[in-house]
Amino acid sequence: MIVAPSILAANFSRLLEEVKDVEKHGAQFLHIDVMDGHFVPNITIGPMVYQNLKPEVKMTFDVHLMIDDPYFYAKAFVKAGADYITFHYEAVKDPLEMISYLHSLNVKAGISVKPGTDVQVLEKLLPDLDLVLVMSVEPGFGGQTFQKQALEKIAYLRDKKAENNYRYLIEVDGGINFETARLCKEVGAEVLVAGTYIFKAKDRKAVISDLLEL
Ligand code: DX5
Ligand code: ZN
Repeated sequence: MIVAPSILAANFSRLLEEVKDVEKHGAQFLHIDVMDGHFVPNITIGPMVYQNLKPEVKMTFDVHLMIDDPYFYAKAFVKAGADYITFHYEAVKDPLEMISYLHSLNVKAGISVKPGTDVQVLEKLLPDLDLVLVMSVEPGFGGQTFQKQALEKIAYLRDKKAENNYRYLIEVDGGINFETARLCKEVGAEVLVAGTYIFKAKDRKAVISDLLEL
């Protein structure tokens, strides 16, 4: 299992220390939630926040863009050190063009769907994607409750991947704890994003290693 702590729930006054701590306990991806106050009603992280973290750690930088204009900002996020850039299906007119654009910037391309968006809209895009992110909460805030309809979407992506030998990773984001992670794993999730569950844990080491061993 790949574990992707979301820095949204970290203490930003000591961000590097927080990030090094989750890396030390085995987390492979660092999930970076970018919100613009338009696509979602919250404002969070820009490229400047993580560009200085990049040379300090070895984790894969998994940048989740919850913004209206991913096309305009993608280059800056790549330059700051993104390894994966995930944009929202709901935010762009031509998702295939966006995927090609990301590949032209030499970054892995991911797409995400909100809880209310049918996962089957992604069918034609699947051969070109490096990651598909299923939102199990409404994007915008950490600390929400997992919505179970995400499980059917994950299972759909698992089946399509197996049938066609696609390469994308199946990631789930929102309300992940040990119990919901187990449900996601059962239906094929490969990357677990967890903010509150990891960063607010009393024993981060135990929490991360439980997820890693799922
Ligand atoms: C929500 C973000 C999530 C968030 C998850 O819009 O995409 O990555 O940080 O937070 P938890 O794990 O607390 O639900
Ligand atoms: Zn996220």
